Amino acid sequence: MTKLNYGCQGLTALISGGTSGIGLAVAAKLLADGARVYIAGRSQRRGEQAVAALRQQTGAEAVYIGCDVRSAADCRRALAEIGVCEGRADWTLDILVNSAGVYREQRLEQMSEADYAEIMDCNVKGTLLLTQAALPRMYGGGSIVNIASDAGVSGNYGCPVYCASKGAIVALTRALALDLAPSVRVNCVCPADVDTPLLARQLVDADESYTLADMAAAYPLGRIGRAEEIAHTVCSVASPANSFMTGSVVTVDGGLTAG
Ligand SMILES: NC(=O)c1ccc[n+]([C@@H]2O[C@H](COP(=O)([O-])OP(=O)(O)OC[C@H]3O[C@@H](n4cnc5c(N)ncnc54)[C@H](OP(=O)(O)O)[C@@H]3O)[C@@H](O)[C@H]2O)c1
Repeated sequence: MTKLNYGCQGLTALISGGTSGIGLAVAAKLLADGARVYIAGRSQRRGEQAVAALRQQTGAEAVYIGCDVRSAADCRRALAEIGVCEGRADWTLDILVNSAGVYREQRLEQMSEADYAEIMDCNVKGTLLLTQAALPRMYGGGSIVNIASDAGVSGNYGCPVYCASKGAIVALTRALALDLAPSVRVNCVCPADVDTPLLARQLVDADESYTLADMAAAYPLGRIGRAEEIAHTVCSVASPANSFMTGSVVTVDGGLTAG
């Protein structure tokens, strides 16, 4: 991993979905930068594996926090747990990355109310609830980075609910940037296809109706993204050095939406 200086040494960061994919890659970069990193997810097994992988990769210790972002009580408990780990009554959260998310390839004709809830509760409500729980610790100055998607800014085939959920994250980012200025900066990063477990599941669910090579062919850069490439952008956006950016929607998509 190329080590860059994002200026996050000594800062406290919480990453939802930090146990896998893009969130895990963000955790690695922030740890390597000297931040104290908390990774949140539902699966303790995945959490422990992620902490071990991060230790091996960076030599530093992340802390796994069990949290289902769809539950307000869980989100509040997660923040309380971080407070215990930080060990000071006046602790602050400097960086919140909302990366927890789920994808479902499904046309509207097939959607049930449960399918709707599965996507929207995690991608939208989860982002709202974790941010709400974190805010009291961030008013002194902090940075929120939401992970949206190219699907939130342009339409994608076969996933209207996912597109709607990510469009909501783009709108939420802009709205919160207004409400929380000047103390908290809020931005979102919009990746296109990235090689993560989410994408692997997407290919399985698509029953081999398309392949990774088919996906790559759509990109001006000739390939899909790597998690660490998205993580680099997230850390750059979150960095305190990036002090004049808020309400921005940052595309990282190999040129997919350039045309
Ligand atoms: N990969 C792509 O091609 C791509 C493209 C554009 C945008 N994105 C977005 O990027 C974000 C990260 O995706 P990824 O590819 O890194 O996915 P991933 O590898 O599947 O990781 C998703 C993470 O979210 C956590 N998570 C899921 N539901 C949760 C819940 N209810 N509460 C707490 N944590 C939850 C998972 O842990 P548990 O399951 O253990 O909870 C896991 O840590 C998502 O928001 C996704 O929509 C991905």
